[in-house]
Amino acid sequence: MFKTLDDIDVSGRRVLVRGDLNLPIRDGRVTDATRIDRLVPTLRELSGKGARVIVMSHFGRPKGKMVPEMSLRPVADALSLSLDGAPVAFATDCIGPEAAVVVDALGDGDVALLENLRFHPGEEANDPVFAEALAALADVYVNDGFSVSHRAHASTVAIAGLLPSAAGRNMQAELEALQAALGAPERPVMAVVGGAQVSTKLAVLGNLIEKVDALVIGGGMANTFLHALGTDVGTSLCEHDLAETAREIMAKADAVGCEIVLPSDVVIAENLEVGAPTETVPTDAVPPGRMILDIGAESAEGLASRLESTRTLLWNGPLGAFEFPPFDASTVSVARAAATLTAQGRLVSVAGGGDTVAALRHAGVVEEFSYVSTAGGAFLEWLEGKELPGVAALRTT
Ligand code: 3PG
Ligand code: MG
Repeated sequence: MFKTLDDIDVSGRRVLVRGDLNLPIRDGRVTDATRIDRLVPTLRELSGKGARVIVMSHFGRPKGKMVPEMSLRPVADALSLSLDGAPVAFATDCIGPEAAVVVDALGDGDVALLENLRFHPGEEANDPVFAEALAALADVYVNDGFSVSHRAHASTVAIAGLLPSAAGRNMQAELEALQAALGAPERPVMAVVGGAQVSTKLAVLGNLIEKVDALVIGGGMANTFLHALGTDVGTSLCEHDLAETAREIMAKADAVGCEIVLPSDVVIAENLEVGAPTETVPTDAVPPGRMILDIGAESAEGLASRLESTRTLLWNGPLGAFEFPPFDASTVSVARAAATLTAQGRLVSVAGGGDTVAALRHAGVVEEFSYVSTAGGAFLEWLEGKELPGVAALRTT
C-alpha cells in the first residue's frame, strides 16, 4: 500500500514533486510532451489545494556535472504553457541558496521547477546528504515519476525516508494499471512481446511465461525463436547464439502451461526500406537472401481473433519494423483490434516500454488503450517482476 494525494494535507505547505521531465528534445524543442501532460494533473491538484509546488527532475545523463545543454530551464516554459500560462519559477540549482530563494518566494498555489538533479553526483549515488539538502526545501514529498522509479537515486529513494511521502496521480495510475494487467488480471491474459532483440528481454520472457496464458512473440525476436525451431530465416535479424536459450524458454512455457504464439506467415523483403517491394510467405518458406520484416496478414488476423476471447492484454514492443511502412501493417491492425475491443469494454489493454508508445501512436490508439505507460526501462523492469526501488520507497506496508 502507498499513500496518494487523498491522504496528505498540502494546503500552505511546500510539496516537492519528483517528475520525469526527461523529455525527448530535438534542436531545442520538445518533440513529445506526453510526460508533461501526465504530470500536469498532479501539479494542478496540488496547486488548487493551495500547496507551494516544487517540481524536480533529471534530464539526460550529465554524470554529476553542470552541462548547459542539459538544463531544465526550457522545460519551465513548456510546463507553464501546460498549466494554462501560470508562471513557473525556475531555480538555477536544485539545492542550496539558489533553490531556497525561489522556494521562499512561492505563495500558496505557485509552482517552481528546480534545475537538473543529475548536475549533482549525489543524485545518482542516492547520497543521504544530497537528499537532506533536497528535503530541506519542502514539507512533503510526492513521487509522480514512475518512469524513473527503477533508479535508486536520492530523489526517488533516500528522500522518501526524510519527508512524509505519497504517490502522485500519474504514479498512482501507472501502479493501478500495472496491477490490473499483471497483479490480479482478468483471465485469459495475453502478452505481446516484440522488438528487435531477445537478449534484452530474456528476463521479461522468463517472468511473463509464469504469469500469462499466451505469449505472442513478434518483431525481430520471433526470428530467433523460429530459427531455434529449425526454420530458415534467411538474412533476417536473428540472434543465432540464443537458439538454446529460446528452446529453454519454450520448454519452460510448455511446462507451466503458457502457450507461445509465433507467426505462421511473414512479410519479407530484400532490404529494410520504406516502400520496399514485399512478399508474404509461410514462415517455413523464406527464400535465401530475404529478411522477415513483419508478421503476415494471416498471423495478424489470428492475433486479432485471439483477442476476442482474451480479457487482458499486455503489450511491449512492435510486431514488425513499424517505422518503415509497409512493415507497420500488423502492428497497426492488431493494435486497432485491441483498441476496438477495449472501447467495447471487452478487453483491458495495457502497453508500455521502449518504442511501444511510438508504435501505438503510429497506429492512432494511444488514447483508446486502457493505459499506455510512458515508462521505458521502468516498465521493462516491472515486466521482469522486479520491485522498483522508487515504488518500494513509497510503500507504507
Ligand atoms: C527514462 O527516460 O527512461 C527515465 O527518465 C530514466 O532515465 P535514465 O535511463 O537516464 O535513468
Ligand atoms: Mg532509460
